[in-house]
Amino acid sequence: MENNLEEVKAILKKYGQGHLLNHYDKLDDFHKKKLLEQINEIDFELVNSLYENTKKEIKNSKDEITPIDYLDKFKLGDRYKYYEEIGKKAIKEGKLAAVTMAGGQGTRLGHDGPKGTYDIGLDSHKSLFELLCDGIKEEGKKYGVTIPWFIMTSRENNEATVKFFKEHKYFGYEKDKNLFFFIQGELPMMDTEGKILIGEDGLIKLAADGHGGIYESLVKTGMTKKMREMGVEWVFIGGVDNCLVKMVDPVLMGIAIDKEVTVACKSVVKANPHERVGVFCKRNGKPNVIEYTEITDEMAEATDKDGELLYGESHILCNLFSVGAIERMGAEPLPYHVAYKKATYMDKDGNLVVPDSPNAYKFEAFLFDAFSEVDDMAILRVKREEEFAPVKNADSAGVDCPSTARELYKKFYKLD
Ligand code: UTP
Repeated sequence: MENNLEEVKAILKKYGQGHLLNHYDKLDDFHKKKLLEQINEIDFELVNSLYENTKKEIKNSKDEITPIDYLDKFKLGDRYKYYEEIGKKAIKEGKLAAVTMAGGQGTRLGHDGPKGTYDIGLDSHKSLFELLCDGIKEEGKKYGVTIPWFIMTSRENNEATVKFFKEHKYFGYEKDKNLFFFIQGELPMMDTEGKILIGEDGLIKLAADGHGGIYESLVKTGMTKKMREMGVEWVFIGGVDNCLVKMVDPVLMGIAIDKEVTVACKSVVKANPHERVGVFCKRNGKPNVIEYTEITDEMAEATDKDGELLYGESHILCNLFSVGAIERMGAEPLPYHVAYKKATYMDKDGNLVVPDSPNAYKFEAFLFDAFSEVDDMAILRVKREEEFAPVKNADSAGVDCPSTARELYKKFYKLD
């Protein structure tokens, strides 16, 4: 351990992170070992460059943004049945798996526990996980298959998530047969001086690396390999916080297969031109999502000859990928975006700092940044009231919160 400690000291000195060992001597052997392991795993070049980026204003003004084509699920005419048949066949052949991203911190909702364990207040008191599971089981039954289900957790919430599933007998799924858990990647949090934070436990304060970490972690944890062994060719990836998510959609799948694209995404039309959502577009000729903060009023309001918004297709985290596309996306690093968050940490004198306002940088990759890896993708506009009931905020926000999601869910399933 001593040698290793000397090597580690040299690395930290080189990167100006020597403070990480300030309290090393006070740690027990387990934590000492763990801290050294953590330090050895950190890519300090990357971390320091991420900090440098926080000082730069990232301007995308040179990017050429243009509208992207989409299909409306309810204006497909005869093609609807055609695509549906193609998709149904592939689903029956066991070619579809689903991934639920449940590694987020859910800070806006403020629930004490993984977001998927949240009860949105239906009479059944089912959690988000159970509502999602009901949907995927029901859909699988229609095609005589069990859709393999993969749950992405974070180091922070993995134990609580798996325990919750176990307590609920995995909602009828079989762990390690058709239900798999995998943990997403992490990056250290930093203060505004670029120093990596040490948490209450004396270890490095790590945070999940955003939903864009999905591709790399699916590959690194062996999930894509498992999918291939199971004969899976297509993977639906969605969030845990949309209680109307439709993970099994033969029309979407049929379109992807027929059009020979490797990514097919669902959209819902913006509620109004200035809704604060990211929308699909082409960026420098490649598929992408543009954030509402990046779009001008003029672009937001622009319409086509039929009066449809040119930038009106909201990205709702409902995307279908070929396994190959995931593998390729997982091999290329995505850009990291910085978020300014509250983080409790130990200062250099060993005092615990509990902030009441944001004090630390967290780095996150966004799933849609990988879209530009492909030349073309299919976009299918679906109906908001059928497929999108997000649970983002606490009820006090009044939007995208448990009460709004509950009403949408009840209306869709005619529960009143
Ligand atoms: P959000 O971006 O809404 O984040 O995630 P969040 O963590 O749920 O909530 P806030 O922002 O802290 O309030 C959208 C989806 O992506 C997953 C979330 O679990 C959710 O299903 N996600 C997000 C991850 O799996 N990992 C991450 O690192 C971030």
